[in-house]
Amino acid sequence: MTGFFLLHDNPPQQTEAWRQLAEHGRRMAGLCMKEEFAQDPGRAQRFSLGLEQLFVDFSKNLITDETLSLLLRLAQQRGLSERIEVLFSGHEVNTTERRPALHTLLRVPESQGEVSPSPDSGLARNANPCLHKQGSSLAGDELPDIIRQTQHERERMFEFARALRAGEVAGAAGKPLSRVVNIGIGGSDLGPRLLVEALSDGQQDGADIDFVANIDPADIERALARAEPETTLFIVASKSFTTTETLVNARRAWAWLHDNGCTHPGRHFLAVSGNAAAVARFGIAKDRYFRIEDWTGGRYSIWSCIGISAALSIGAERYRQFLAGAHALDRHFATAKFAENIPVLLGLISIWHNNFLDIGTHAIIPYDQGLERLPAYLSQLVMESNGKSVNAAGDKVGIRTTPVLWGGVGSQVQHAVFQYLYQGTRLASIDFLLPLSSRHNQAQHQLLVANCLAQGEALMRGNPDAAEPHRRFDGNRPSTTILYQRLDPYTLGMLLALYEHKTFVEAALWGINPFDQWGVELGKTLAGQIATGLSGAAPAGSHDSSTEQLLDRYSLAQMK
Ligand code: F6P
Repeated sequence: MTGFFLLHDNPPQQTEAWRQLAEHGRRMAGLCMKEEFAQDPGRAQRFSLGLEQLFVDFSKNLITDETLSLLLRLAQQRGLSERIEVLFSGHEVNTTERRPALHTLLRVPESQGEVSPSPDSGLARNANPCLHKQGSSLAGDELPDIIRQTQHERERMFEFARALRAGEVAGAAGKPLSRVVNIGIGGSDLGPRLLVEALSDGQQDGADIDFVANIDPADIERALARAEPETTLFIVASKSFTTTETLVNARRAWAWLHDNGCTHPGRHFLAVSGNAAAVARFGIAKDRYFRIEDWTGGRYSIWSCIGISAALSIGAERYRQFLAGAHALDRHFATAKFAENIPVLLGLISIWHNNFLDIGTHAIIPYDQGLERLPAYLSQLVMESNGKSVNAAGDKVGIRTTPVLWGGVGSQVQHAVFQYLYQGTRLASIDFLLPLSSRHNQAQHQLLVANCLAQGEALMRGNPDAAEPHRRFDGNRPSTTILYQRLDPYTLGMLLALYEHKTFVEAALWGINPFDQWGVELGKTLAGQIATGLSGAAPAGSHDSSTEQLLDRYSLAQMK
């Protein structure tokens, strides 16, 4: 079976639950959260869920019991349980690229566990969500084989990380490689960068890692200025190995090694890619090539060898914990009843905000310096996955798909963008993320906790009775607070998988394919044409008058 998103190919607006939610939304216009809390002492507890070290309080959203039950009805009428089942079982869910999306396989631990699925989940009893094959578009025993192959590749990656961290990997001059520069962009940059920043906490116990993503030459030159040619390893991370930014920066690194007297630049390179032929043409040897499969989307690739720079930084053991945290979340997603299923509920509440309350942006505000990169990482995950205007059948969706995802780290954002969140005329929904402990100064951490909790409360309560109008604000602004014990690899794995599944839930209910990204192609094509024209290799193409004018200005500037 292909095109599982077409299983229920009627637009979501045609379901009874959607119509009921629209009606409910109109009635909910007068809902006052502050009063709901005052009248209902059980609200916070009822609208919260825990899973291992995560605790998610979604009670400060514009919801009632009726809202949730209608949203759960929508999930059922949109066949969410079947869609989850086909995701895990290897169907060709990415219909336009004709492949499955099997990133969850990458976090299956070496020792498999059994799970007992929930009645809602649609999974057969005692099936492992990552091994379930019923109706799969992959043949019989293919999934276990695929798991074995990816685990083998992962072991190669861990062995390389061990050897490099032990000083056993030498460059062309015989000196151990100790500085690493990861060259990649999008999913080949954001994931590993997030992991290194979140888990090394500025005190890398492994290799010294730098990241280069931008085609702006300033980015690679900054990294080269900090590097020693004899001790630097360049990781070229690119699933396609055709991405211009990455290849241009990688070639610059090669030339830099050569210009600095390196006789075998290839010994300072490693590649992670799905394109073995292009890697070989570039000059990187087979034993320095780590494969990723075509069913691993770029924004889902942190679970593959694309994470090698993070493995070099944090080591195999902690990397395994990261994968294990994500796997725990996978099991929860595949097996928990929808009413107790955190990614399902967060996805449904997001649809409620977006489609029925017209809340068009969602802010991710971690009160955790280690998660400073999380908003950027999740922006790619969410906006590249669900920034779509047609459904999986190619028809206009006719409803709003993903809200804009943005954010920043607390408490800095309080002094920058929170004015908008409190008194701006457009509502945003917010996720606060907060660790319950810090390995640094506890007294100072307490102030961080106070700041985070205060924002959620203030946004909900407001200040409607203030005497002066400019001090007044109504409150009633929605937020969810995610608590976790501390930012460790396991928790980070859980958090990232939670957001992946939440994104999937939204796509499934809207009926869109979250695994392709065709929108970015035209920009790449035009950039190629303009670059060829600018280099004089071909006559300048014809552009609109604005673009022509900007190009003329560029050409003039070169003559000065
Ligand atoms: O252009 C978008 C995109 O394809 C992303 O989906 C991807 O993460 C990024 O470019 C980098 O792609 P690659 O890993 O193939 O270089």
